[in-house]
Amino acid sequence: MAFLSDTLARVKPSPTIAVTNKARELKEAGRDVIGLGAGEPDFDTPENIKRAAIAAIESGKTKYTAVDGIPELKKAICAKFERENGLSYKPSQITVGTGGKQVLYNALVATLNPGDEVVIPAPYWVSYPDMVLLAGGTPVFVEGRMQTGYKITGAQLEAAITPKTKWVIFNSPSNPSGAAYSREELKELTDVLMRHPHVWVMSDDMYEHLTFGDFEFVTPAQVEPGLYDRTLTCNGVSKAYAMTGWRIGYAGGPEALIKAMGKVQSQSTSNPCSVSQYAAVEALNGPQDYVIESRKAFERRRDLVVAALNTCPGITCPTPEGAFYVYPSVEGCIGKTSKGGVTIENDEAFAAALLEEAGVAVVFGAAFGLSPNFRISYATSDAALTEACARIKAFCEGLK
Ligand SMILES: Cc1ncc(COP(=O)(O)O)c(C=O)c1O
Repeated sequence: MAFLSDTLARVKPSPTIAVTNKARELKEAGRDVIGLGAGEPDFDTPENIKRAAIAAIESGKTKYTAVDGIPELKKAICAKFERENGLSYKPSQITVGTGGKQVLYNALVATLNPGDEVVIPAPYWVSYPDMVLLAGGTPVFVEGRMQTGYKITGAQLEAAITPKTKWVIFNSPSNPSGAAYSREELKELTDVLMRHPHVWVMSDDMYEHLTFGDFEFVTPAQVEPGLYDRTLTCNGVSKAYAMTGWRIGYAGGPEALIKAMGKVQSQSTSNPCSVSQYAAVEALNGPQDYVIESRKAFERRRDLVVAALNTCPGITCPTPEGAFYVYPSVEGCIGKTSKGGVTIENDEAFAAALLEEAGVAVVFGAAFGLSPNFRISYATSDAALTEACARIKAFCEGLK
C-alpha cells in the first residue's frame, strides 16, 4: 500500500517557493543575488495596525474565536464591501480564514466533486490549479495572450464552459501579469456567465487596492448584480496592508456556501489567529494612508521596471494596470545562447541562466501557465530594481 495519497501525487510543489529557495542557497554560498521572486510588499505593517494587535494581546484576546471570524471583523468587512465595492453582505454571508489562500481552498473543498471543472484564466496564480486538484476537481485553462493584455475574452470563456463547469476563478489585478479588467472587459465575461446559470464565480480581489493611474477597480458581483447569488468575492489584508505574515483573508457570498466553508475550517484550522483578527479590524476601519502611499510607490516602480525591461534586446514588457508584478515576454531570446553557453530553449532555461550568470532571481512563465515569459515582483527597493534591470539588460545583450 502506498504511504502517500494519489491526490498528492497530482500536485506539484510551488515553483515560486523553489526559486526563492534557490536564490537563498546561492546567497548563502556568498553569491550576489537580487531576488525578484517573492510576492509580498517590502513595506512594514502600519503602526496603527501593530498597536491594535498589541492592545488585543494585552486585553487577553488570545483564546479561540468563532470559527469563521469575530463579529467585529465581520462587521468591518461588511462595511468595506459596501464602501469600496457597493456590495451588501450580512455578517452571516462573511467568512474569515487564515489568509486569502485558506478562504479559496475552503471554497473549493466545500464544493468540488470528482469530475467538476474549474475554469482558470492563464497566466494564473500558481496555487489555483493545485488547490483545485487537491480538492478533487479538474482545472481547465484559458490563455490570456500578451496581445490581449493577458486577459481572456468572452468568446474564450464561452468556449471553455461545459456542463461540468462548477467555478470560474477570476483574478484582477492578476498575479502574475498585473493585468486588471476594466468594467467593459469584465462585463463581456459576466454577460457570458449570465447565460450559464450553473457556473459559480470565485473572484480573487487580493490586489484590489493596487491599481494605477485613473484605473477603476471593479469586481464581478458589482458589475453584474445578477451574479451576486453565485459569486464568492474574496479579498484579504495581506497585500493591501503589508500583512502577509498575519494570515487574514476573507470572503463574502451566499449564506449556504459560507456555512459550508465554515464546516471545512472547523475541522482543519478552527479559527484564524485571534490577535491578527483584531489587527485586521483596525486595518479595515482605521486610516487608509498606507494604501495610498504604497500605491504611489508601486506605480513608480512599475514605470521604472517596464521602461528598463523594454530596452533589453529580446524582451517585450507590456505595462500592467495593477498588482506589483510585470510579466515580460522573452520570445526574442528563445533559441539564442548565453555567454555561459546555455541554449535558451524556453523560459525555464532563461530564468535558470539569468540566476546563474547574472544573479537575478525571477520566476519562469511556465509555472504560471503562459510561456515564454517570466515574472518579476517589483515589491523591492528602487535601487535593487535598477541594478536588477541593468543585469538583465547585460545578460540579454550577451545572448548570441
Ligand atoms: C492572487 C493571489 N491570491 C491569493 C493570495 C493569498 O494571499 P494570502 O497571503 O492572504 O493567503 C495570493 C498571494 O500571493 C495571491 O497572489
